[in-house]
Amino acid sequence: MGDILNIPDKLFEKIVDAERAAVLTGAGVSAESGVPTFRGENGLWRNRRPEELASMEGFLDDPRLVWDWYDWRRSVISQIQPNPGHYALAEFDCVYDQFTLITQNVDGLHALAGARDPVELHGNIWHVRCLKEGTVRENREVPLSRIPPLCPDCNSMLRPNIVWFGEELDTDILKRAGLAAKESEVFFVVGTSSVVQPAASLAGLAQRNGAIVVEINLDRTPITESADLFLQGKSGEILPALLRMIVQARGYDDCG
Ligand code: OAD
Repeated sequence: MGDILNIPDKLFEKIVDAERAAVLTGAGVSAESGVPTFRGENGLWRNRRPEELASMEGFLDDPRLVWDWYDWRRSVISQIQPNPGHYALAEFDCVYDQFTLITQNVDGLHALAGARDPVELHGNIWHVRCLKEGTVRENREVPLSRIPPLCPDCNSMLRPNIVWFGEELDTDILKRAGLAAKESEVFFVVGTSSVVQPAASLAGLAQRNGAIVVEINLDRTPITESADLFLQGKSGEILPALLRMIVQARGYDDCG
């Protein structure tokens, strides 16, 4: 059954028979769309200290520099499309009775590919937050007409509504992700270096609660050793192949 991807029969059966599944995605899923990853050879953090551009201290020190960087990332993201990996994950929702898509990505590409209600652990690059009032609103202006942008209500500075280094994740969002991990029978970890907490702990949480962990990545990561299955390669190729295999094994015509 699971031979196209060389998946041992026992594990493939578990993947096919599961009713509850969840996935954690990272920057690697968007790499084939043209969104740079953070770490690795051409990663965004290659020549930068993350704290300079993605922390409150860095922002207060130089809001213009930080906003210039986000303005550039927003312009890159505005010009690209989801890839077959995003589309396959959106369809996992119809394969499993209960499916939760958890992402560290802020690019919004999962929703654009049709994913229902993705759990965005680190926020969304198209949302801005007023530094004074804390109000969050959508802002899709590319490029921004004023840097740093100002709150239309109180004229205070706006910041990207993104979880920066040293900041806590939203409690409700983290709870949703934790619950999905605990309840899942299969937990997929795709395109993440699994070094940033608390996201990186979700696979272990799922596994301790009985799930099998399936990792899809170009390279090995700190969780590869403990994963039940490691599928090495591009998520844009492996996810659609895996989806086809599951759909076929379940005897569905398609997932539309
Ligand atoms: P990283 O850049 O740390 O890791 C990307 C991972 O994707 C690596 O393990 C690559 O091997 C893998 N990869 C690259 N291309 C791939 C492909 N086509 N198919 C499959 N895997 C591929 O990105 P994240 O793990 O998402 O946080 O980083 C986590 C967080 O650290 C980010 O959300 C960001 C960053 O600092 C904030 O900005 C708050």
